[in-house]
Amino acid sequence: MNLTDRVVVITGGAGGIGSALARRFAAEGAAAVVVADLDADAARTVADGVGPVAHAAALDVTDEEQVRALVADTERRYGRIDLFCANAGVTTSGGVEVDDAGWDRAWRVNVLSHVYAARAVLPAMLARGGGYLLHTCSAAGVLTAVGDAAYTTTKHAAVGFAEWLSVTYRDQGLRVSALCPQGVDTPMLAEGLAAGHLGARVIAASGAVLSPDQVADSVVTGLAEERFLILPHPEVAAYALRRAEDPDGWQAGLRKLVRRLRA
Ligand SMILES: NC(=O)c1ccc[n+]([C@@H]2O[C@H](COP(=O)([O-])OP(=O)(O)OC[C@H]3O[C@@H](n4cnc5c(N)ncnc54)[C@H](O)[C@@H]3O)[C@@H](O)[C@H]2O)c1
Repeated sequence: MNLTDRVVVITGGAGGIGSALARRFAAEGAAAVVVADLDADAARTVADGVGPVAHAAALDVTDEEQVRALVADTERRYGRIDLFCANAGVTTSGGVEVDDAGWDRAWRVNVLSHVYAARAVLPAMLARGGGYLLHTCSAAGVLTAVGDAAYTTTKHAAVGFAEWLSVTYRDQGLRVSALCPQGVDTPMLAEGLAAGHLGARVIAASGAVLSPDQVADSVVTGLAEERFLILPHPEVAAYALRRAEDPDGWQAGLRKLVRRLRA
């Protein structure tokens, strides 16, 4: 898929990666870019910066009615949605001690919101014989996010759901990509580093921390190639291979890195 004349919705569009996607999609010639976020003021600021093709929307992705209403409103305004980017995500920065409310929030934002988006856009996309879903997952969804049990678990679920959609609907014209970056220089990672969280330090020590614009470059290439797995950090493919071939050796290497960072 190229972005020219496309109608795009981006959830978490006010954040680091979401706002870079909005700017980049507009630069690629998108017809409309809907910047949807829980933080409505920030979404408006991003949309204003992107220019006249952008439109801001207040959205809590964990509320299925709101997701349905946003999709209906976008289809009414622009006639269709070509690309829906389920990009909003949250971390917990904790392990098994994180309370049920924390696990529930991670599950709802990182996984269930992708189900709500698919339910809302699939009927029109399948009727038209085409459409694209970009799910921002994480390298944590194919590896492990040290220091964040709920993030690891829900991002694995998000990759699983994206793969299921791709296998099930590709022959009907639907395209699905799972975006799985490692470290990206956004408030999510910056706040973790500022707080000294082990997980954020492991990410920073595991490879390059990319800018959101570099991630947007990878997304545009990945969408053009209609690739399922979009890996802005190519080393993640090597890590995933090593993990699959030798899980014990992979985990031992990760524990060694953690011991080094803790020393
Ligand atoms: N930053 C990284 O290192 C990194 C790495 C891999 C994956 N990711 C993923 O990339 C995505 C974007 O994260 P980011 O790094 O840009 O972080 P960010 O914190 O800058 O942006 C996240 C955005 O999601 C919004 N959001 C949170 N809950 C929401 C809700 N319920 N409804 C609507 N919007 C909501 C926030 O308001 C924020 O604008 C997330 O899914 C994240 O898990 C980030």
